[in-house]
Amino acid sequence: MSIIIKKPSDIKSSEITDQSTYLNRRKFLKQSTALLGAAWAGRIAMPVEAKGNDFPGVIKSSFSTTESINTLKEITSYNNFYEFGTGKRDPAKNAVNFKPRPWSITVEGEANKTGVFDLEDFINPYQMEERIYRLRCVEGWSMVIPWVGFSLAEMIKKFEPTSKAKYVEFTTLYDPERMPGQIRRVLHWPYTEGLRMDEAMNPLSFMAVGLYGEVLPNQNGAPIRLVMPWKYGFKSIKSIIKIRFTETQPPCTWNVTAPKEYGFYSNVNPEVDHPRWSQRTERRIGANFWEPKQETEMFNGYADQVAHLYTGMDLRKYF
Ligand code: MTE
Repeated sequence: MSIIIKKPSDIKSSEITDQSTYLNRRKFLKQSTALLGAAWAGRIAMPVEAKGNDFPGVIKSSFSTTESINTLKEITSYNNFYEFGTGKRDPAKNAVNFKPRPWSITVEGEANKTGVFDLEDFINPYQMEERIYRLRCVEGWSMVIPWVGFSLAEMIKKFEPTSKAKYVEFTTLYDPERMPGQIRRVLHWPYTEGLRMDEAMNPLSFMAVGLYGEVLPNQNGAPIRLVMPWKYGFKSIKSIIKIRFTETQPPCTWNVTAPKEYGFYSNVNPEVDHPRWSQRTERRIGANFWEPKQETEMFNGYADQVAHLYTGMDLRKYF
């Protein structure tokens, strides 16, 4: 873990925390000292990394967690992106030469406005926000990431889905020459994911185009990816080239690959174990080995905002 200690004169005004965030952090600091021990909590007070300025008009989102943010190094060197290899260190290595621009996105299916859009035109209409979300991986680890992007609901509204649109499907680029991990059939390519329309329209659902104030690094899903903070990390599909509105539930790569292990919903749920391991706790990437694991929260801490979407559903059956 690398920590850069800066002099106050080195810190840009954009990096100075506003008072409410500061107070929230103080509150969290108190709680987490008890929970996690001083070592992890000690990271909070320090400015860990310089921030980029690729998105000058970015605003801070009130949906952000006030937890300690993982370092840029941690976020960009421990990844799941099977298109660039199955090892955690593979994407950083194998995606170095990937060129995510020029890029176009196709919007199709049950919507009044469909078509093929250049990335810049596609993202231009939206207010860029910084949202600090915890990504809880189904494998039992988590990271806290300062994403930059825009509301998925705002994006969907622009395409005017018809009343037949019950789901939205996302597809990753399929190009084995540019994504060498696709040469091996470890997953059903292209990677696809899907959401029920009301999930997609929830204000928490997010399209990320950057992190730490910079354009999205290749290994994190450049140039554009989904971020679903109350679902396991695999729902947050990377390097999206197609968005399709559908009447029926779309196929999702992990669900198709191992249906007994990965369901369509994939909500973070400490009560429902993966068939091969418990989902009750998680290990924060960067934490020291002697620090206790953290308790996994229902819907990754967003139960107040999303539990109503699943009223009346048996979450053991619809996992
Ligand atoms: N998207 C694509 N296209 N391919 C992948 O292999 N892995 C998923 C998800 N999105 C994956 C993907 C999984 S399992 C996780 S945990 C997150 O990306 C990891 O995101 P991160 O590497 O930015 O932390």
